[in-house]
Amino acid sequence: MVVIEVSNLRKVYRVPIRGEGFWESIRYVFSRRYKDVEAVKGISFRINKGEVVGFLGPNGAGKTTTMKMLVGLIKPTSGKVRVLGYDPFTRHRDFLRRITLVMGQKQQLIWDLPPIDSLRINAAVYEIPEDVFKERLKLLAEMLDVERRLYQPVRKLSLGERMKAELLAALIHNPEVLFLDEPTLGLDVSAQISIRNFLREYNERFGATIILTSHYMGDIEALCDRAMVIHRGRLIFDGELYELAERVMPFKALYVEFKGEIPFEDLQKLGEISEVEGKEVKLIVRKEKVFDSVRYIMDRYEIDDLTVTDPPLDEVLAKVFEQ
Ligand SMILES: Nc1ncnc2c1ncn2[C@@H]1O[C@H](COP(=O)(O)OP(=O)(O)OP(=O)(O)O)[C@@H](O)[C@H]1O
Ligand SMILES: [Mg+2]
Repeated sequence: MVVIEVSNLRKVYRVPIRGEGFWESIRYVFSRRYKDVEAVKGISFRINKGEVVGFLGPNGAGKTTTMKMLVGLIKPTSGKVRVLGYDPFTRHRDFLRRITLVMGQKQQLIWDLPPIDSLRINAAVYEIPEDVFKERLKLLAEMLDVERRLYQPVRKLSLGERMKAELLAALIHNPEVLFLDEPTLGLDVSAQISIRNFLREYNERFGATIILTSHYMGDIEALCDRAMVIHRGRLIFDGELYELAERVMPFKALYVEFKGEIPFEDLQKLGEISEVEGKEVKLIVRKEKVFDSVRYIMDRYEIDDLTVTDPPLDEVLAKVFEQ
């Protein structure tokens, strides 16, 4: 079942140009000039129920702009968006009940109150019956391991605990589609991992559809099968995560530990030497040459160890954006 359908979606921001100096300030007030910034340049994709999709791209690529159009916070300049059959920008009540948006850099919980108070407000807004609320609260708090933190003012919580409470508040109305913009922003590794684990469990348990952006490759690798890469407002890749690596970096890394001296000259015929540590060499070899290279080395040299690995995904991405 298709949950999100986007075709030819564009967003152009009009930004006032402000010159320097007195007369320019006067002009700014009376006859403003504008320039157009095309943040999203016509993207199309579909997302099915239950998918977990990673939305990747460098700063300013258009990720947040796209997310905002998907939840109806801003109006597209042109193109079509349907989420659960709704046009998000109408902000239909039934639509809002079925989705949620979490922005890592924005806070929904009220700073001076304990999370439980904000949760009760949400329960009232979404008209969740008391018994349903209690049950859902218990379940989510347990999954997030945040039960003991719900009764302390938000300002006293650690960043990780706060993010967990944010997620709890964003999910209390049992939404089917989750839009998460940098949900692990600024968190330490252990908090990142527990948020990831929670999202995976949430997806499996409730069949929720999740779209998330992140600067941390680890989030995407751990959670998503599918990745969409946006660059300067254009979708430059949409497919399986491993395919992204294959497509842009048809290389493997060979780690070889030699018993004797490292035969640098010979190795350079096979590929690029990228690291040397003691008797171990990291050699970057084209995929189709891996077997021949391994055989070549084994036939000629005494070795202690040999491993073949994929290049790390963040290297792959850096390469994508360079091109
Ligand atoms: N409200 C706005 N008014 C004018 N321009 C904007 C506005 N919001 C974003 N932009 C511009 O649109 C482009 C896309 O921004 P967007 O926030 O969507 O990028 P992003 O991929 O989320 O980046 P980041 O990884 O830094 O969060 C950028 O050039 C940005 O400067
Ligand atoms: Mg953003």
